[in-house]
Amino acid sequence: MSEEAVLRELADGERLRVRVAGREFVIDAACPHRKGRLVHGHVNARTLRIVCPLHRSSFDLTTGCPIAGPTTEALTVYSDGPANAEDDPRKGPTER
Ligand code: FES
Repeated sequence: MSEEAVLRELADGERLRVRVAGREFVIDAACPHRKGRLVHGHVNARTLRIVCPLHRSSFDLTTGCPIAGPTTEALTVYSDGPANAEDDPRKGPTER
């Protein structure tokens, strides 16, 4: 299992799919602080946290709760489940 996260914005531009550590999350694509694009964020595969590239707020991928940084607002987590190995994330965005 790859520890490297694969991030892809979905077709609506509002949501981001994050595949990491055998799991798949769909979260807001924009940081609630000042709309940083989380597709350019850093994901920690061990802690399952994503860090915004703009001001470095970090969020728990499983709950959306802010962990550190300037924001106190949570991300919306639309789904959380096992990654589908048959659906290659490099093939392009998919809707759920
Ligand atoms: S825009 Fe994400 S922390 Fe500021």
